[in-house]
Amino acid sequence: MKYSRILGTGSFLPKKILKNADLEKIVDTTDAWIVERTGIRQRHIVSEGENALTMAESAGRQALEAAGLMPKDVDMIIVATTTPIKTFPSTACYLQKSFGIGGCPAFDLNSAACSGFIYGMSIADQYIRQGTIKTALVIGTEVMSAILDWTDRSTCVLFGDGAGAVVLGASDKPGILSTHIHADGSYEDVLSLPIMERKMRSEESIFLQMSGNRLFKLAVNILGDLFEETLAANSLKKSDVDWLIPHQANIRIIQGMAKKLDLPMDRVAVTLDEQGNTSAASIPLALDKVVREGKVKRDQLLLLESFGGGLTWGSALVRF
Ligand code: UT7
Repeated sequence: MKYSRILGTGSFLPKKILKNADLEKIVDTTDAWIVERTGIRQRHIVSEGENALTMAESAGRQALEAAGLMPKDVDMIIVATTTPIKTFPSTACYLQKSFGIGGCPAFDLNSAACSGFIYGMSIADQYIRQGTIKTALVIGTEVMSAILDWTDRSTCVLFGDGAGAVVLGASDKPGILSTHIHADGSYEDVLSLPIMERKMRSEESIFLQMSGNRLFKLAVNILGDLFEETLAANSLKKSDVDWLIPHQANIRIIQGMAKKLDLPMDRVAVTLDEQGNTSAASIPLALDKVVREGKVKRDQLLLLESFGGGLTWGSALVRF
C-alpha cells in the first residue's frame, strides 16, 4: 500500500444560526461591512449540549458511514481543535471512548490552530504510507463562539462553530500525493488564545486576539509560495488542479488564491458565506460540502490549503 486515500467525508453544523443582522444589535457593525470585507453572511453557533466533542462525533460517524466503515476499523484518531472540552483528556480520547475502540492512538492537535486539520492529515498520511496503520479518522471541530470577545467587532463577526471529518485509508491507487506543513513562530503575536497566561494572572477574560490586517497580508504571500511548493513537489502545473479547498477566513483571500491558480470560483469550495471561519473545521467542512453536492468527482485533483495562529500553514494535494 503506497498511498492514503480519502475514503469518506462528514460534517456537522449546529442548528442555531447567527446572521449579520443579529450582530448589528450586539456591536457597532453592519451587514454591508461584514459582507464586503469578509464575504460572511451568517455563522452557526452551538446550543446547550453541543460542544467540540459532540460535533466531532457526529461528523466522524458520518465520515465513517460514507466510507462504509465501522468505528472498530479505525486505527488512529486525530482531532484538530483549539476549543476542546478539556485540555486533557483529549477530545480524541473521549471520542475513542464513545466509539468503544480503546487501544488505538488518539490525540488532539490544538497548537496548529486553523492549520490543525492539514497538520492532522499530514501525520495520518505518514503513518498510513509507512504501513503502521491502515485507517485514520481526522477531524476538525471548533466552538469558536466560546473564545470570542462579543464586544469586539473586529473579531466576533468572523468566526463560527462546526466540525468536519475525513476517513483516510491505505490504498494502492494515488490519494494524498503530498502534504506540506510549515510554521514561523516569529509571528506569534498575530493570532493567539492566551489561556494559561491569563489564568496565571487571574484575569477572567480569555479571548482570541488577532491583528486581522497583518494576518491578511501574511496569508496572501504565504499561500502563493505554498501553491508553488506543492505543485513543484509533484511536477504538476496549476492547470492540473481541479478544485481548491481553502481555509475559510476571508472571501478576498480565497478569490485571490483562485486567481493565482487560474481557477474559476465554481471550482473553489466556499462555505464562508454560510459558516464564517470555523478554524480547524473549515477545510473538512468545505470538502464535505462539495463532495456531498456531487461536485467533486473521483480522481479529480484537489488542493487543500490553510494558514492560522503560530503562524502555521500547510497544504495537501489530493487525488480524490
Ligand atoms: O483563520 C485565520 C485567521 N483570520 C484571518 O485570516 C483574518 C485575516 N484578516 C481579515 O480577514 C481582515 O483583515 C479583516 C476582515 C479581519 C478586517 O478587514 P480589513 O479590511 O483588514 O479591515 P481593518 O482591520 O483594516 O479595519 C478597517 C476599518 C477600521 O476602521 P477605521 O480605523 O478605518 O476607522 C476598523 O475599526 O474597519 C473597522 N472595522 C469594522 N467596521 C465595521 C473592523 N471590524 C469592523 C466591523 N464592522 N465588524
